[in-house]
Amino acid sequence: MFVDRVLSGMRPTGSLHLGHYHGVLKNWVRLQHEFECYFFVADWHALTTHYDTPEVIERNVWDMVIDWLAAGVDPSQATLFIQSQLPEHAELHLLLSMITPLGWLERVPTYKDQQEKLAEKDLSTYGFLGYPLLQSADILIYRANQVPVGEDQVPHIEFTREIARRFNHIYGREPGFEEKAEAAIKKLGSKRAKVYVEARTRYQEQGDAEALEAARTLIEEAQNLSMGDRERLFGYIEGGGKMILSEPRALLTAASRMPGLDGQKMSKSYNNTITLREDADSVSKKIRTMPTDPARVRRTDPGEPEKCPVWQLHQVYSNDATREWVQKGCRSAGIGCLECKQPVIDSVLEEQRPMRERAQAYLNDPTLVRNIIAEGNEKARELAQETMRDVREAMGLRYT
Ligand code: TRP
Ligand code: SF4
Repeated sequence: MFVDRVLSGMRPTGSLHLGHYHGVLKNWVRLQHEFECYFFVADWHALTTHYDTPEVIERNVWDMVIDWLAAGVDPSQATLFIQSQLPEHAELHLLLSMITPLGWLERVPTYKDQQEKLAEKDLSTYGFLGYPLLQSADILIYRANQVPVGEDQVPHIEFTREIARRFNHIYGREPGFEEKAEAAIKKLGSKRAKVYVEARTRYQEQGDAEALEAARTLIEEAQNLSMGDRERLFGYIEGGGKMILSEPRALLTAASRMPGLDGQKMSKSYNNTITLREDADSVSKKIRTMPTDPARVRRTDPGEPEKCPVWQLHQVYSNDATREWVQKGCRSAGIGCLECKQPVIDSVLEEQRPMRERAQAYLNDPTLVRNIIAEGNEKARELAQETMRDVREAMGLRYT
């Protein structure tokens, strides 16, 4: 059966916090059981904005991997690696840059947005302009078809699809393509060949997306095809030529808006975070000193949960009974704010306990983490090298 390949990366620019856990890592942990997953440290991407503070990146790489493992990302289920350990990404980035129109990069919305947001940094660099293309290389080199990202990254996936299409259009042509594709169809066997031809016709005449999916699945499942024939049959569905790079899709997760200690979204830049493995005393203290509804000056003043950031945390962490208790107790001044905060403190600590435990083993023996990454790098390299062989050949760079 054809299994979707999932790939995602994270920039090592700071400690991970509970916002990352609820927004990203929980999702990775779920995906690793369903799909073939590749998760990597995007250290080159971090350098595009932090080129003048490499120590920040250096400090955060291993900590971030430990955070992933602590959150439950399982190296026996998912492949974990570090981008810069696979120079193949850089080679693909370079080769793709040959066919990338400057205007496409300049039009990616994050380009101008980030330049404005990070105005204190000079981001009028070649590297920063190329950020989305480096991301395309990350994705295309593994022929990943599902990319879990947040809303803000969707334009990068769209951009990647356009790059893949352009590449296939320019380099997917070969002499005698039609004849070779027809010969490959015969190799499918008569029953499958018939299904393929019908699906192809339906797609070409009616743009039927399901037919496209069906034909692709059929090719994925066919056992006896060479790589070349496979690419021809993929490409032939749509017309053109060989499909050397495949177009990924964004895998959008329901946006989880994890509230921070002040009620705004939890984010390092708002200084309102609880880090993933923060020690228990610090967590308790942070929550105990959280602001509450300003109307509750005295213990006897009633309050309104809707005006209180603690209530937002109850919505993430508490069950119906506790929420009911908060609503009533707050509005009637039946409970005090410290009392109200205790179940949140307990739940956060409970959530973090297994994370702290899992992390401890890796902190005690750092070689464990190094080995996980070394193994992941090697596994990733196999796939990356296979793609690079095809790409080099298509671009006339085969010298052996
Ligand atoms: N740009 C992504 C972010 O800021 C990180 C990233 C780099 C990435 N390469 C990727 C995500 C490839 C998904 C796939 O979150
Ligand atoms: Fe907020 Fe709870 Fe105090 Fe009400 S009782 S103001 S919800 S902390």
